Amino acid sequence: MQTRVLVTGAGGFIGHHLVKYLKQKGYWVRGVDIKEPEFEPSPADEFEVLDLRRWDNCLLATRGVDHVYHLAADMGGIGYITAYHAVIASNSAMINVHMLEAARRNGAEKFFFSSSACIYPQYRQQDPDLTPLREEDAYPADPEEGYGWEKLFMEKLCQYYYEDYGFKTYVARFHNIFGPLGTWEGGKEKAPAALCRKIAITKLTGNPEVEIWGDGEQTRSFCYVDDLVEGVYRLMQSDYHQPLNIGQDRMVTINELADIIANIAGIEIVKKHVPGPQGVRGRNSDNTRLREVLGWEPQISLEEGLARTYAWIEEQVRQKLAREMDISSASV
Ligand code: NAD
Ligand code: GDD
Repeated sequence: MQTRVLVTGAGGFIGHHLVKYLKQKGYWVRGVDIKEPEFEPSPADEFEVLDLRRWDNCLLATRGVDHVYHLAADMGGIGYITAYHAVIASNSAMINVHMLEAARRNGAEKFFFSSSACIYPQYRQQDPDLTPLREEDAYPADPEEGYGWEKLFMEKLCQYYYEDYGFKTYVARFHNIFGPLGTWEGGKEKAPAALCRKIAITKLTGNPEVEIWGDGEQTRSFCYVDDLVEGVYRLMQSDYHQPLNIGQDRMVTINELADIIANIAGIEIVKKHVPGPQGVRGRNSDNTRLREVLGWEPQISLEEGLARTYAWIEEQVRQKLAREMDISSASV
């Protein structure tokens, strides 16, 4: 019989890519989100718009499925997650506690939870040239306020459900995921999408200045969404029930990230460093355990992933500028 899976957050960036991947693998897929996907229709067999903060909706969402990929969360880049600690932590806590228990009660066999590199202690990430983060570095805990604390608690809850009920939970810590069909404007976008947008605007309008929050010497690693989805799927086929990093282990500065994107766009830019939320000073993934557990690690280079992402975002910016021109010429 065809395996039935639920993807929550299926109206969002990673969830939508995951639905496409699972459909290609031949699964029957139910997508659930509080909104429809923004940029193209979902290929899910069923798509239900539900608010997963509510217990009754979590019971509905999890009915009759074998595997649950739980990605729904109140989520955004560093600008968003540092601005709304209370609302982010309480929204995601309600979603997560209800989803885990509803999946168990409805008899799901497996439950995946998307955690984050934001659970790693801030005291280990104060240097741009930091030692890459191993899974065991999570404790003593000092995660990102709000979003990070909530993710860390849910990691523990997944552990308790596995230990106390034998419910097969799987946890991955995502390290800054990017790609086409992700949020690229509006305040929730992360650095790769924000810089693609700003550089596309430079290319299309001719103003060479690109604003970068901070001095641009802060570091991160960035993982292309196709790799992430592959890693999540592989983890769900494994018998590994502790948190696992999924990310790239190539660390770059934000200035270098901007240079790579400008090179892809084929333009010269002038970086303008401005005050803005910066989060940790440095962050990178140690992929030793990922290689041991899955015999695999992300394959797509930063340049290749950014080329695909930039092309999509430049097109979004082009369309938006064209719409604005239409409106202003209609109003004269
Ligand atoms: P996203 O914001 O595009 O997707 C999250 C989805 O959850 C959204 O579509 C949103 O509408 C949905 N959602 C929010 N509240 C809901 C509710 N009450 N009921 C139902 N759905 C609701 O973000 P994403 O980048 O696709 O992230 C997916 C998951 O991966 C999240 O759990 C996120 O915390 C985690 N994660 C992502 C990254 C990254 O770099 N993108 C890094 C670490 C962890
Ligand atoms: N978003 C954004 N926009 N970041 C910028 C910009 C900009 O225009 N300019 C410079 N940056 C810098 C930020 O100051 C930060 O130091 C760095 O780029 C990375 O920012 P984000 O991509 O927004 O977030 P993050 O890496 O700090 O955290 C993200 O990744 C986590 C997982 O690794 C967030 O999305 C978290 O929610 C996520 O869990």
